[in-house]
Amino acid sequence: MSDEKFVLAIDQGTTSSRAIVFNHSGEIVSVGQQEFEQIFPNPGWVEHNPVEIWDTVRAVVADALQKAQINRHNLAAVGITNQRETAVVWDKNTGEPVYNAIVWQDTRTSEIIRELGGEAGLEKYRDKVGLPLATYFSGPKVKWILDNVPGARERAEKGDLLFGNTDAWVLWNMTGGVNGGVHATDVTNASRTMLMDLRTLQWDPEICEDMGIPMSMLPEIKSSSEIYGYGRPNGLLIDTPIAGILGDQQAATFGQACFEKGMAKNTYGTGCFMIMNTGEELVFSKNGLLTTVCYKIGDKAPVYALEGSIAVAGSLVQWLRDNLKMINESHEIQELANTVEDNGGVYFVPAFSGLFAPYWRDDARGAIVGLTRYNTRGHLARAVIESTAFQTKEVLEAMDADSGDKLLELRVDGGMIRDNTLMQFQADIIGVDVVAPQVAETTALGAAYAAGIAVGYWEGEADVIANWKEGKRWTPDMDQAEVDRTYRLWKKAVTRTFDWVD
Ligand code: G3P
Repeated sequence: MSDEKFVLAIDQGTTSSRAIVFNHSGEIVSVGQQEFEQIFPNPGWVEHNPVEIWDTVRAVVADALQKAQINRHNLAAVGITNQRETAVVWDKNTGEPVYNAIVWQDTRTSEIIRELGGEAGLEKYRDKVGLPLATYFSGPKVKWILDNVPGARERAEKGDLLFGNTDAWVLWNMTGGVNGGVHATDVTNASRTMLMDLRTLQWDPEICEDMGIPMSMLPEIKSSSEIYGYGRPNGLLIDTPIAGILGDQQAATFGQACFEKGMAKNTYGTGCFMIMNTGEELVFSKNGLLTTVCYKIGDKAPVYALEGSIAVAGSLVQWLRDNLKMINESHEIQELANTVEDNGGVYFVPAFSGLFAPYWRDDARGAIVGLTRYNTRGHLARAVIESTAFQTKEVLEAMDADSGDKLLELRVDGGMIRDNTLMQFQADIIGVDVVAPQVAETTALGAAYAAGIAVGYWEGEADVIANWKEGKRWTPDMDQAEVDRTYRLWKKAVTRTFDWVD
């Protein structure tokens, strides 16, 4: 075995856990991946089993190391990136979760949201936390658990329960769990809870009080790039420094080397998330976007971002595969879409979790409109693909309006960029070039860089920029009148999903 050093990234995502080993050039050496169960107990509810999440993390780490033919001694550091906002509450004495993880897509907190908002509604906490009051974020999910799981509130008040997004859950377990596990998170994850003040980067006692969340449950907020702790014998990767944590969308922004103010990336995963770096300045959106922390390297000042979050993108393709059985494998959606010339007048608005940016409507539900007997499965597949591109255009327009600048090109990543039909349509509909890097695994790469920088494996952002190389470019090629016509119909289709929930 060589003594070459690598960095391992753990990507604890919405549908799978992955572990990727990277070398010093930022290239992929090996990948381990395991899907886990998506639990849908009621309409609008989405849960994960935290124990299964931890089991898959352990399994994929072992798999990635084995495939790379290395062991923990070859690792300079480990970075963690994760599905954000998903809330895990567990007992620090037993290590057992008190309830399933409530996933970011879950809409069960809509009543809690209305009560908390009162007269002020969506805007109640925006000035402090940068977010509209919406079911998406973790704080109200924790409140739901404390209100609904018998005995949970008493245990929380006694100081027995801990909360975290899945980054904190994985970190705590890796660093020893009940035997002294580190309970910490990074600023990017904390900025998705609705509980952190964006200016002080500390938990806000008033909001915690409003939501009835004891502050003893909350992890310590740290930067995105520092040593949080080391793997422990009853955890994972003994003595290896865990040195980077970034929420997955911020990690992708980091991995895409969007370090300059005004640079943006769009990640096409389960959902679709566009992030624009706004530098050290906090920009509050007037157009339905979120203000969030982009990253913070060690003691340096935090860098902020505007974000357009779209709840459903790749998960719509999975739904077609798993629930409608229209395809066997996700990639078949492209072949099916290519059996037709256009969408045949069909628009599919996948408001499965209500609508996120720029609408923030938890009363919306999915709709397929424009159907005639002319339509085939191909048109539906086309409408599915186009829905991701249309939603992205809406978010991009909001970004341009908020930043006062027009984005000149869009860096993209995530599983769906393999779909050439989608990426060409994306460029066509937004009218700017769409560019993918050679290493498309930017989420894991971003977490690896954050960890590697903390331990001196990489020097800093300059290394990330030097390693970023253009892979593929799609250039707009659609008549403007056609862009305007089809986008107008999309906008009309969106209005048909509103006000659906009593
Ligand atoms: O905010 C949710 C996001 O972090 C989930 O990302 O990649 O699982 O769609 P993804």
